[in-house]
Amino acid sequence: MDVVYFLFFFLLLVCSGGVKTKTVLEIIQYNNSMRQVSSYIGRHGLSSYFDQQNITAFLPTDRVFRTYHSSVYGYNMSDTVTVESLFLYHLVGRKIQVSDIRDNTTAHSLHPSSYRLYFNILMDGSTKVYSVNGAVLVSTDIIASNGIIHIIDRVIAPVSSAKTLHDYLLKPDMPALEFRSIAMASIIDMELKGNTNNSGYVFTAYAPNDSYLIPTMPEYAKDILYDVSNLEFLKKVVHAHTIPDYVQFLPSSWRSNNKTILHELCQLTNLQGKRGNVCYV
Ligand SMILES: *[C@@H]1O[C@H](CO)[C@@H](O)[C@H](O)[C@H]1NC(C)=O
Ligand SMILES: *[C@@H]1O[C@H](CO)[C@@H](O)[C@H](O)[C@H]1NC(C)=O
Ligand SMILES: *[C@@H]1O[C@H](CO)[C@@H](O)[C@H](O)[C@H]1NC(C)=O
Ligand SMILES: *[C@@H]1O[C@H](CO)[C@@H](O)[C@H](O)[C@H]1NC(C)=O
Ligand SMILES: *[C@@H]1O[C@H](CO)[C@@H](O)[C@H](O)[C@H]1NC(C)=O
Ligand SMILES: *[C@@H]1O[C@H](CO)[C@@H](O)[C@H](O)[C@H]1NC(C)=O
Ligand SMILES: *[C@@H]1O[C@H](CO)[C@@H](O)[C@H](O)[C@H]1NC(C)=O
Repeated sequence: MDVVYFLFFFLLLVCSGGVKTKTVLEIIQYNNSMRQVSSYIGRHGLSSYFDQQNITAFLPTDRVFRTYHSSVYGYNMSDTVTVESLFLYHLVGRKIQVSDIRDNTTAHSLHPSSYRLYFNILMDGSTKVYSVNGAVLVSTDIIASNGIIHIIDRVIAPVSSAKTLHDYLLKPDMPALEFRSIAMASIIDMELKGNTNNSGYVFTAYAPNDSYLIPTMPEYAKDILYDVSNLEFLKKVVHAHTIPDYVQFLPSSWRSNNKTILHELCQLTNLQGKRGNVCYV
């Protein structure tokens, strides 16, 4: 009798396993480390988005949500419209396997404003690190019947904005950030101001928050930096913090020991005044 039952269940398992691949939605619902995503989908009625044909879903695990504080990023995770647009930002309307990803490329998300997702590939030693808006792809190419899932190590909405950099610096979406000191500098450089207010131009800017710039910079350094008779210097410093024609998100878990990039930035921002060198990176 026992043997018969055992065989019966065994056959049942084999059949259900072999007959059909699960949809993206089903994989999420069955995976114990995606309970948070699953519960947001259920609570806010988002199932149909994950049952569409030909999608790619970039999904954070539960562990990510435990460290995600919506108060910091200004997203209300109890609000259906907010959660819906946040999750749509994690979806693309075509299949993207990890081998399709190229550095400095973008894909339109299914977000109502069609915001782009940005891909980067960086080297960690000899390992390629793939990231989308800086969220590292930690588990890739989970194939579903209607698309592909990549597991990522952070929630990606907070770093997206419809604003140009110019407008972002004046009014950051993230409530904890203030860039008044940099906005001041952009006014001095009209060319940069024009570029940063142009949605067609891409670049990366390293922008220290006011709290790093204003209290920590000694007066003698401010005198040099904001010297109105030598605006060229301030211009150079601002340019030294930007990479033109390239979108670079720094991945959350990039452990590279390569300090070259930071070192170069540091050298460019060194203030070689009479009282020594100061590096603010
Ligand atoms: C479940 O999610 C984890 C990531 O948390 C992933 O590594 C694993 O491959 C997933 N399992 C299945 C069956 O999709
Ligand atoms: C999904 O992609 C396949 C292969 O590219 C295509 O044949 C099919 O029409 C697509 N389905 C939808 C609903 O877009
Ligand atoms: C968050 O959204 C919920 C549901 O829409 C609303 O009741 C609540 O007041 C919102 N919280 C804040 C801080 O806006
Ligand atoms: C930025 O560009 C927009 C649209 O072209 C324009 O309306 C706005 O005045 C510009 N802002 C600045 C500060 O130049
Ligand atoms: C940014 O700077 C403002 C003003 O100095 C400060 O209140 C805020 O805490 C800073 N935020 C971060 C994330 O450092
Ligand atoms: C990065 O992509 C942009 C288009 O989004 C392109 O104009 C630029 O040349 C690319 N930069 C590099 C270094 O490939
Ligand atoms: C470190 O980064 C620089 C700049 O991207 C690159 O030229 C150099 O080859 C890298 N060095 C190593 C050891 O990866």
